[in-house]
Amino acid sequence: MSLPNLSLRNLNVKYPIIQGGMGIGYSNYKLAGTVAREGGIGVLSSAGADLIVSKRHGKKLKHREAIAQDVRDAKEEGNGGVIGINIMAALVKSWEDSILGSMDGGVDVIISGAGLPLTLPIIAATHPRYDEVALVPIASSGRAFELIIKKWLKSTDRLPDAVVVEGPMAGGHLAWRNTEEVDDPKNKLETLVLEVMEVAKRYGDIPVIAAGGVYGYEDIQSYLKMGCKAVQMGTRFLATHESGASDTYKEAINASTKEDIVLAKKPGSPCGLLFRVLKDSPFYQDALERVRAPKCTKGWLLNKKNECQAKLSNEESFCICNGLVASSGYEKNEKELYSVGDIAYRVNETISVKKLMSELTNG
Ligand SMILES: Cc1cc2nc3c(=O)[nH]c(=O)nc-3n(C[C@H](O)[C@H](O)[C@H](O)COP(=O)(O)O)c2cc1C
Repeated sequence: MSLPNLSLRNLNVKYPIIQGGMGIGYSNYKLAGTVAREGGIGVLSSAGADLIVSKRHGKKLKHREAIAQDVRDAKEEGNGGVIGINIMAALVKSWEDSILGSMDGGVDVIISGAGLPLTLPIIAATHPRYDEVALVPIASSGRAFELIIKKWLKSTDRLPDAVVVEGPMAGGHLAWRNTEEVDDPKNKLETLVLEVMEVAKRYGDIPVIAAGGVYGYEDIQSYLKMGCKAVQMGTRFLATHESGASDTYKEAINASTKEDIVLAKKPGSPCGLLFRVLKDSPFYQDALERVRAPKCTKGWLLNKKNECQAKLSNEESFCICNGLVASSGYEKNEKELYSVGDIAYRVNETISVKKLMSELTNG
């Protein structure tokens, strides 16, 4: 059975497949552009864009300019396809510049999670392209989604154009702080999807998008049957030729077994959320052995006091940003840190986006 199109605000997308934003530097303009060209939504990541895009273009760009340039590059690569950007609400310092810069560059969709994107429409409303851009929060419970909706309606009268429900099998940061919650059956993606769908229906049937653990065509069909309008996938796209992950990162994914995939906690991510990694990533091994002194040279993931937790102690957390940037080749003096989703052990070959999209869209 062929996959249906995805309607999102004013957009008509050929396939209901969103390549999830993956920072830092993995979902680059090449990956996002190629996915868009192949009929899905290609999504950039705002994390570290000033560093990455400045290096790529050989000139120092401010964050807002860098984001706009990244979107233009992806649009060009995507040949008219649909381009989104993932903006983490936890990246407080660059939050506003990321939203406005992506809109300057012509982005079609803004997807935002890792914290509650409560002010997203307020900031977007100050831009002339406000009506053209789809605004999509990520939520991991019906309660969080309803909170976002109420705040958006109160401040701007705008409803989310869709919602991504991210479950506990996803790569990167999870919505939960402890492993008991991750293992709790009530937090299974299928259960969360139904919970969020109930809220979505009450506000005019907002499209629901499932994320976390989607591997192939069959999974996509099964979420569509549940009533989802699309899926968002990260790990499968990470292991493509076009992604910005280093070759050693892709090789580590291909060689991984189920036992290699762990949730980093104590030491974990400085933002306190669980973070899924490959146990043998060199940077994580150093963190486990406390070899790396408390240190942060980026200051992207700050707490309420504007401090990076990883700078204060190496017992509770470690500086993930440096390790992540090293794994996309933009930090030569650091070891690599590999974040993956729970399905990474099922991936054993790096393929092209074209081949992956063909596999995902043909049963
Ligand atoms: C390496 C990696 C980095 C990620 N970075 C981000 C990010 O910066 N912001 C975000 O909201 N989600 C991030 N994600 C989550 C993905 O966008 C996606 O929702 C998730 O990986 C879906 O689960 P899957 O990997 O099982 O397909 C990341 C995932 C991975 C694997």
